[in-house]
Amino acid sequence: MIVLGIDSSCDDTAAAVVADGRTTLSSVVHSQIPLHRPHGGVVPELASREHLRNIGPVVRESLKRAEVSLEKIEGIAVTVGPGLIGSLLVGLYYAKAVSYCRDIPIVGVNHLEGHILSIFLEDSAPEFPFVAMTVSGGHTNIYLVKGFGEYEQLAHTVDDAAGEAFDKAAKLMGLGYPGGWAIESLAREGSTDSIRFPRPMLSSESSDFSFSGLKTALALYYRKWKDTEDKQGNLTMADIAASFQEAVVDVLAGKLASAVRMTCVKAVAVAGGVACNNRLRTRLTEQMGHEGVRVFFPRAAYCTDNGAMIAVAGFHRLIKGERADLGIDVRSRYPID
Ligand code: KG4
Ligand code: ZN
Repeated sequence: MIVLGIDSSCDDTAAAVVADGRTTLSSVVHSQIPLHRPHGGVVPELASREHLRNIGPVVRESLKRAEVSLEKIEGIAVTVGPGLIGSLLVGLYYAKAVSYCRDIPIVGVNHLEGHILSIFLEDSAPEFPFVAMTVSGGHTNIYLVKGFGEYEQLAHTVDDAAGEAFDKAAKLMGLGYPGGWAIESLAREGSTDSIRFPRPMLSSESSDFSFSGLKTALALYYRKWKDTEDKQGNLTMADIAASFQEAVVDVLAGKLASAVRMTCVKAVAVAGGVACNNRLRTRLTEQMGHEGVRVFFPRAAYCTDNGAMIAVAGFHRLIKGERADLGIDVRSRYPID
């Protein structure tokens, strides 16, 4: 079955054509980063207007690159939440119009289910059951994945998401937007143990995450460091970035390890924009290796927002006979289980 997947949940306009929920025939993403960069974050009103301008060209380009016409598309999968309402509406109404005019079945997809299933776009994917950690600008969750469509949430963040913590840290340090890549690049030159930032909730009984205390600790440290003439103990910005990144990685790795022990699974998948982080990839691969657990990461283009992961999630709903009617609506909040 050939499925067209569409995602416009935040600041990327994305469309992809995927065969049988496994083989990507095309994946096109129009990024809005340059538009939002001067504002230091996503401006919802600008995002939806930009989606409106780009949704048609992006979908047409995905069909062109896949070398399929709309007649060959057997299902449309579109993100209906969670996300920015104005952004989600653009993708949904475009998808509805194509579905109605061409009489193509349509299903609404939870963006988080897309991230969880993005690993199935790779040749090597875990067997069920596995644990999935989704770490992005908007979400930091851990799930037990028992099958397609069968998810049990094990942990969530009680305040900021991991990507949001990277973005806010980078903004504070004047490294620009988005912050994850900027912090990772700078951290390469620094020492991870020069500053001992807090690891919020790492030692607590709770399986949940919290990053706002870490952000505050960084802010306090950075301001003091900046105001000190001889830069305390000659520490550099790179040392601060490396120590901050290490704290985030420690928290993510620690909570993931607890979830793996609790569920006794033999495989984990990590997805979402923060899963691009090479320090996180190395750490999790080493740590899980010691415990005999395999770690799967999608390639970077499938970690960040894309339409292909939405097509995968939609495919598994379509083959079970699920169909949305044209009254389907968007949801800014959309828990998965
Ligand atoms: O999944 P994504 O593209 O969009 C959301 O659904 O949020 O994730 C974007 C987030 C941003 O917060 C960005 O700073 C973070 O992923 N990110 C990274 C890296 N690359 C992107 N965080 C840490 N290290 C990276 N290399
Ligand atoms: Zn996402």
